[in-house]
Amino acid sequence: MSADVGTLDGSVAVVTGAAGGLGGAIVDALLRAGATPVLLDVAGDALEDAARAIEREQGQRPGTIPCDVTDPAAIEDAAAWVERRHGRCDVLVNNAAILERSPLEEHPVDLWDRVLAVNVRGYFLCTQAFGRLMIAAGSGSIVNVASLAGESPSFGNGAYCASKAGVLALTRQTAVEWGPRGIRANAVSPSFMRTPMMAGASPEFEQQRTHNVPLGRIAETSEVAGAVVFLAGPGASYLNGVNVPVDGALAQARAAGWDGPAR
Ligand SMILES: NC(=O)c1ccc[n+]([C@@H]2O[C@H](COP(=O)([O-])OP(=O)(O)OC[C@H]3O[C@@H](n4cnc5c(N)ncnc54)[C@H](O)[C@@H]3O)[C@@H](O)[C@H]2O)c1
Repeated sequence: MSADVGTLDGSVAVVTGAAGGLGGAIVDALLRAGATPVLLDVAGDALEDAARAIEREQGQRPGTIPCDVTDPAAIEDAAAWVERRHGRCDVLVNNAAILERSPLEEHPVDLWDRVLAVNVRGYFLCTQAFGRLMIAAGSGSIVNVASLAGESPSFGNGAYCASKAGVLALTRQTAVEWGPRGIRANAVSPSFMRTPMMAGASPEFEQQRTHNVPLGRIAETSEVAGAVVFLAGPGASYLNGVNVPVDGALAQARAAGWDGPAR
Protein backbone atom coordinates (compact mmCIF):
# COMPACT_ATOMS: atom_id res chain seq x y z
CA MET A 1 0.00 0.00 0.00
CA SER A 2 1.35 3.44 -0.82
CA ALA A 3 -0.03 6.63 0.68
CA ASP A 4 0.18 10.10 -0.78
CA VAL A 5 1.22 12.07 2.27
CA GLY A 6 0.23 15.43 0.84
CA THR A 7 -3.18 15.17 -0.68
CA LEU A 8 -6.76 15.25 0.52
CA ASP A 9 -8.05 15.46 -3.05
CA GLY A 10 -11.82 15.22 -3.21
CA SER A 11 -12.26 14.98 0.57
CA VAL A 12 -15.10 16.92 2.18
CA ALA A 13 -13.78 18.56 5.35
CA VAL A 14 -15.93 20.34 7.94
CA VAL A 15 -14.06 22.91 10.05
CA THR A 16 -15.69 24.43 13.13
CA GLY A 17 -14.58 27.87 14.25
CA ALA A 18 -13.62 28.41 10.61
CA ALA A 19 -13.97 32.20 10.86
CA GLY A 20 -11.31 32.40 13.58
CA GLY A 21 -7.54 32.80 13.47
CA LEU A 22 -6.51 29.15 13.41
CA GLY A 23 -9.72 28.05 11.68
CA GLY A 24 -8.95 30.30 8.69
CA ALA A 25 -5.44 28.87 8.42
CA ILE A 26 -6.82 25.31 8.58
CA VAL A 27 -9.28 26.08 5.77
CA ASP A 28 -6.41 27.51 3.65
CA ALA A 29 -4.26 24.45 4.28
CA LEU A 30 -7.15 22.10 3.45
CA LEU A 31 -7.73 23.94 0.17
CA ARG A 32 -4.04 23.64 -0.71
CA ALA A 33 -4.24 19.90 0.03
CA GLY A 34 -7.13 19.54 -2.44
CA ALA A 35 -9.99 19.18 0.04
CA THR A 36 -13.42 20.76 -0.23
CA PRO A 37 -13.86 22.64 3.04
CA VAL A 38 -17.19 23.41 4.69
CA LEU A 39 -16.92 26.37 7.06
CA LEU A 40 -18.93 26.36 10.28
CA ASP A 41 -18.92 29.19 12.83
CA VAL A 42 -21.31 31.03 15.14
CA ALA A 43 -20.00 34.40 13.86
CA GLY A 44 -22.15 34.66 10.74
CA ASP A 45 -20.68 37.90 9.34
CA ALA A 46 -17.07 36.79 9.77
CA LEU A 47 -18.01 33.47 8.18
CA GLU A 48 -19.42 35.23 5.12
CA ASP A 49 -16.29 37.41 4.88
CA ALA A 50 -14.13 34.27 4.96
CA ALA A 51 -16.22 32.58 2.27
CA ARG A 52 -16.11 35.68 0.04
CA ALA A 53 -12.31 35.86 0.38
CA ILE A 54 -12.02 32.21 -0.70
CA GLU A 55 -14.38 32.80 -3.61
CA ARG A 56 -12.23 35.74 -4.78
CA GLU A 57 -9.08 33.57 -4.65
CA GLN A 58 -10.41 30.20 -5.80
CA GLY A 59 -13.32 31.26 -8.00
CA GLN A 60 -15.58 28.98 -6.03
CA ARG A 61 -17.55 29.72 -2.90
CA PRO A 62 -17.16 27.17 -0.09
CA GLY A 63 -20.17 25.92 1.85
CA THR A 64 -20.87 27.89 5.02
CA ILE A 65 -22.92 26.89 8.05
CA PRO A 66 -23.59 29.69 10.53
CA CYS A 67 -24.40 27.83 13.72
CA ASP A 68 -23.60 27.38 17.39
CA VAL A 69 -21.77 24.16 18.25
CA THR A 70 -23.58 23.99 21.60
CA ASP A 71 -26.98 23.59 19.90
CA PRO A 72 -27.66 19.87 19.22
CA ALA A 73 -30.52 20.53 16.78
CA ALA A 74 -28.44 23.04 14.80
CA ILE A 75 -25.54 20.59 14.56
CA GLU A 76 -27.87 17.81 13.40
CA ASP A 77 -29.20 20.19 10.74
CA ALA A 78 -25.61 21.08 9.76
CA ALA A 79 -24.72 17.40 9.27
CA ALA A 80 -27.91 16.84 7.26
CA TRP A 81 -27.00 19.85 5.08
CA VAL A 82 -23.50 18.45 4.44
CA GLU A 83 -24.99 15.07 3.55
CA ARG A 84 -27.49 16.66 1.11
CA ARG A 85 -24.89 18.88 -0.53
CA HIS A 86 -21.84 16.58 -0.58
CA GLY A 87 -23.17 13.10 0.19
CA ARG A 88 -20.51 12.54 2.83
CA CYS A 89 -18.10 13.97 5.39
CA ASP A 90 -14.53 12.65 5.22
CA VAL A 91 -12.85 14.99 7.70
CA LEU A 92 -14.05 16.88 10.77
CA VAL A 93 -11.82 19.45 12.43
CA ASN A 94 -13.22 20.42 15.84
CA ASN A 95 -11.65 23.81 16.42
CA ALA A 96 -14.33 26.23 17.71
CA ALA A 97 -13.56 27.20 21.30
CA ILE A 98 -13.68 30.08 23.75
CA LEU A 99 -11.40 31.23 26.55
CA GLU A 100 -12.68 32.84 29.76
CA ARG A 101 -10.26 33.69 32.53
CA SER A 102 -10.95 33.70 36.25
CA PRO A 103 -9.26 32.49 39.42
CA LEU A 104 -10.93 29.27 40.60
CA GLU A 105 -12.20 30.77 43.86
CA GLU A 106 -14.09 33.49 41.97
CA HIS A 107 -14.99 31.58 38.82
CA PRO A 108 -18.60 32.42 37.84
CA VAL A 109 -20.38 29.09 37.43
CA ASP A 110 -22.20 30.20 34.29
CA LEU A 111 -18.89 31.04 32.61
CA TRP A 112 -17.43 27.68 33.67
CA ASP A 113 -20.47 25.97 32.14
CA ARG A 114 -20.22 28.04 28.95
CA VAL A 115 -16.54 27.15 28.38
CA LEU A 116 -17.21 23.45 28.92
CA ALA A 117 -20.33 23.65 26.72
CA VAL A 118 -18.50 25.12 23.71
CA ASN A 119 -15.11 23.45 24.12
CA VAL A 120 -16.11 19.89 25.11
CA ARG A 121 -19.85 19.41 24.55
CA GLY A 122 -19.57 21.24 21.21
CA TYR A 123 -16.74 18.91 20.11
CA PHE A 124 -18.84 15.92 21.22
CA LEU A 125 -21.98 17.10 19.39
CA CYS A 126 -20.07 17.65 16.14
CA THR A 127 -18.22 14.34 16.55
CA GLN A 128 -21.55 12.55 17.00
CA ALA A 129 -23.44 14.24 14.15
CA PHE A 130 -20.68 14.28 11.51
CA GLY A 131 -19.31 10.98 12.82
CA ARG A 132 -22.59 9.27 11.92
CA LEU A 133 -21.91 10.16 8.27
CA MET A 134 -18.42 8.67 8.63
CA ILE A 135 -19.80 5.52 10.27
CA ALA A 136 -22.24 5.12 7.38
CA ALA A 137 -19.32 5.44 4.93
CA GLY A 138 -17.01 3.18 6.96
CA SER A 139 -14.23 5.79 6.97
CA GLY A 140 -13.33 9.22 8.23
CA SER A 141 -10.81 11.27 10.13
CA ILE A 142 -11.41 13.62 13.06
CA VAL A 143 -8.85 16.14 14.28
CA ASN A 144 -9.56 17.86 17.57
CA VAL A 145 -7.76 21.10 18.34
CA ALA A 146 -6.81 20.77 22.00
CA SER A 147 -4.10 22.85 23.71
CA LEU A 148 -1.02 22.49 25.86
CA ALA A 149 -3.44 23.67 28.56
CA GLY A 150 -5.08 20.22 28.40
CA GLU A 151 -2.05 18.69 30.10
CA SER A 152 -0.60 21.53 32.15
CA PRO A 153 -2.33 24.02 34.43
CA SER A 154 -2.14 27.73 33.75
CA PHE A 155 -3.12 30.40 36.27
CA GLY A 156 -6.63 31.82 35.85
CA ASN A 157 -7.53 29.42 33.04
CA GLY A 158 -9.21 26.64 35.06
CA ALA A 159 -12.27 26.15 32.88
CA TYR A 160 -10.23 26.29 29.68
CA CYS A 161 -7.65 23.78 31.00
CA ALA A 162 -10.41 21.42 32.17
CA SER A 163 -12.13 21.71 28.79
CA LYS A 164 -8.97 20.90 26.85
CA ALA A 165 -8.27 17.89 29.09
CA GLY A 166 -11.80 16.83 28.15
CA VAL A 167 -10.93 17.22 24.46
CA LEU A 168 -7.94 14.90 24.88
CA ALA A 169 -10.14 12.30 26.63
CA LEU A 170 -12.80 12.60 23.90
CA THR A 171 -10.08 12.09 21.27
CA ARG A 172 -8.84 8.86 22.89
CA GLN A 173 -12.41 7.66 23.40
CA THR A 174 -13.39 8.32 19.77
CA ALA A 175 -10.22 6.62 18.52
CA VAL A 176 -10.97 3.44 20.45
CA GLU A 177 -14.75 3.30 19.92
CA TRP A 178 -14.70 4.21 16.23
CA GLY A 179 -11.34 2.78 15.10
CA PRO A 180 -13.13 -0.50 14.33
CA ARG A 181 -15.56 1.51 12.13
CA GLY A 182 -12.68 2.87 10.02
CA ILE A 183 -12.56 6.28 11.71
CA ARG A 184 -9.41 7.82 13.18
CA ALA A 185 -9.41 10.56 15.81
CA ASN A 186 -6.34 12.55 16.80
CA ALA A 187 -5.55 15.84 18.51
CA VAL A 188 -3.14 18.71 18.11
CA SER A 189 -2.03 20.76 21.08
CA PRO A 190 -0.75 24.20 20.13
CA SER A 191 0.76 26.60 22.61
CA PHE A 192 0.56 30.34 21.90
CA MET A 193 -0.54 31.74 18.53
CA ARG A 194 -1.42 35.34 17.70
CA THR A 195 -5.18 35.05 17.02
CA PRO A 196 -8.31 36.96 18.12
CA MET A 197 -8.61 34.55 21.08
CA MET A 198 -5.28 35.85 22.39
CA ALA A 199 -5.95 39.52 21.59
CA GLY A 200 -5.84 40.29 25.31
CA ALA A 201 -2.34 38.82 25.80
CA SER A 202 0.18 41.46 26.84
CA PRO A 203 3.40 42.07 24.88
CA GLU A 204 5.27 40.88 28.01
CA PHE A 205 3.40 37.56 27.93
CA GLU A 206 4.26 37.09 24.27
CA GLN A 207 7.91 37.96 24.89
CA GLN A 208 8.05 35.52 27.80
CA ARG A 209 6.44 32.79 25.69
CA THR A 210 8.90 33.43 22.87
CA HIS A 211 11.81 33.20 25.29
CA ASN A 212 10.55 29.93 26.83
CA VAL A 213 10.16 28.01 23.57
CA PRO A 214 13.27 26.08 22.48
CA LEU A 215 12.61 27.12 18.86
CA GLY A 216 12.78 30.74 20.04
CA ARG A 217 9.56 31.94 18.46
CA ILE A 218 5.82 31.49 18.69
CA ALA A 219 3.95 29.40 16.11
CA GLU A 220 2.35 30.77 12.98
CA THR A 221 -1.23 29.55 12.60
CA SER A 222 -0.18 27.96 9.28
CA GLU A 223 2.29 25.72 11.16
CA VAL A 224 -0.47 24.33 13.39
CA ALA A 225 -2.77 24.02 10.37
CA GLY A 226 -0.11 21.94 8.61
CA ALA A 227 -0.16 19.42 11.47
CA VAL A 228 -3.98 19.33 11.38
CA VAL A 229 -4.01 18.57 7.65
CA PHE A 230 -1.31 15.92 8.05
CA LEU A 231 -3.32 14.15 10.80
CA ALA A 232 -6.48 14.40 8.70
CA GLY A 233 -4.87 12.87 5.63
CA PRO A 234 -3.55 9.59 4.30
CA GLY A 235 0.01 10.19 5.53
CA ALA A 236 -1.31 9.65 9.06
CA SER A 237 -3.32 6.54 8.19
CA TYR A 238 -1.94 4.54 11.15
CA LEU A 239 -2.12 7.38 13.69
CA ASN A 240 -5.16 7.02 15.91
CA GLY A 241 -5.74 8.41 19.40
CA VAL A 242 -2.58 10.50 19.53
CA ASN A 243 -2.05 14.05 20.71
CA VAL A 244 0.57 15.99 18.74
CA PRO A 245 2.01 18.96 20.65
CA VAL A 246 2.66 21.71 18.09
CA ASP A 247 4.56 23.81 20.58
CA GLY A 248 8.18 24.10 19.45
CA ALA A 249 9.03 21.73 22.38
CA LEU A 250 7.69 24.11 25.05
CA ALA A 251 6.19 21.21 27.04
CA GLN A 252 9.47 19.28 26.91
CA ALA A 253 11.38 22.37 28.02
CA ARG A 254 9.05 22.78 30.98
CA ALA A 255 9.57 19.12 31.90
CA ALA A 256 13.33 19.64 31.74
CA GLY A 257 13.08 22.76 33.91
CA TRP A 258 14.46 24.93 31.04
CA ASP A 259 12.81 28.32 30.79
CA GLY A 260 14.84 29.89 28.02
CA PRO A 261 18.37 30.97 27.19
CA ALA A 262 20.17 32.95 29.91
CA ARG A 263 19.40 36.67 29.56
N1 LIG B 1 -4.56 31.09 19.99
C1 LIG B 1 -3.86 30.32 20.79
O1 LIG B 1 -2.84 30.74 21.36
C2 LIG B 1 -4.30 28.90 21.03
C3 LIG B 1 -3.45 28.05 21.76
C4 LIG B 1 -3.82 26.73 21.96
C5 LIG B 1 -5.00 26.25 21.44
N2 LIG B 1 -5.82 27.09 20.74
C6 LIG B 1 -7.05 26.54 20.20
O2 LIG B 1 -7.13 26.81 18.81
C7 LIG B 1 -8.52 26.80 18.42
C8 LIG B 1 -8.82 28.02 17.58
O3 LIG B 1 -8.66 29.18 18.40
P1 LIG B 1 -8.19 30.60 17.80
O4 LIG B 1 -6.98 30.97 18.54
O5 LIG B 1 -8.20 30.56 16.33
O6 LIG B 1 -9.37 31.51 18.36
P2 LIG B 1 -10.40 32.47 17.61
O7 LIG B 1 -11.15 33.14 18.68
O8 LIG B 1 -9.71 33.26 16.58
O9 LIG B 1 -11.36 31.42 16.84
C9 LIG B 1 -12.36 30.69 17.49
C10 LIG B 1 -13.54 30.62 16.55
O10 LIG B 1 -14.54 29.80 17.16
C11 LIG B 1 -15.81 30.41 16.94
N3 LIG B 1 -16.74 29.98 17.99
C12 LIG B 1 -16.71 30.31 19.31
N4 LIG B 1 -17.76 29.80 19.93
C13 LIG B 1 -18.48 29.11 19.00
C14 LIG B 1 -19.68 28.37 19.04
N5 LIG B 1 -20.38 28.25 20.18
N6 LIG B 1 -20.14 27.79 17.90
C15 LIG B 1 -19.44 27.92 16.72
N7 LIG B 1 -18.30 28.65 16.63
C16 LIG B 1 -17.83 29.22 17.75
C17 LIG B 1 -15.52 31.90 17.02
O11 LIG B 1 -16.58 32.66 16.40
C18 LIG B 1 -14.20 32.00 16.31
O12 LIG B 1 -14.36 32.25 14.92
C19 LIG B 1 -9.32 26.70 19.72
O13 LIG B 1 -9.71 25.37 19.93
C20 LIG B 1 -8.32 27.14 20.77
O14 LIG B 1 -8.64 26.63 22.04
C21 LIG B 1 -5.50 28.40 20.52
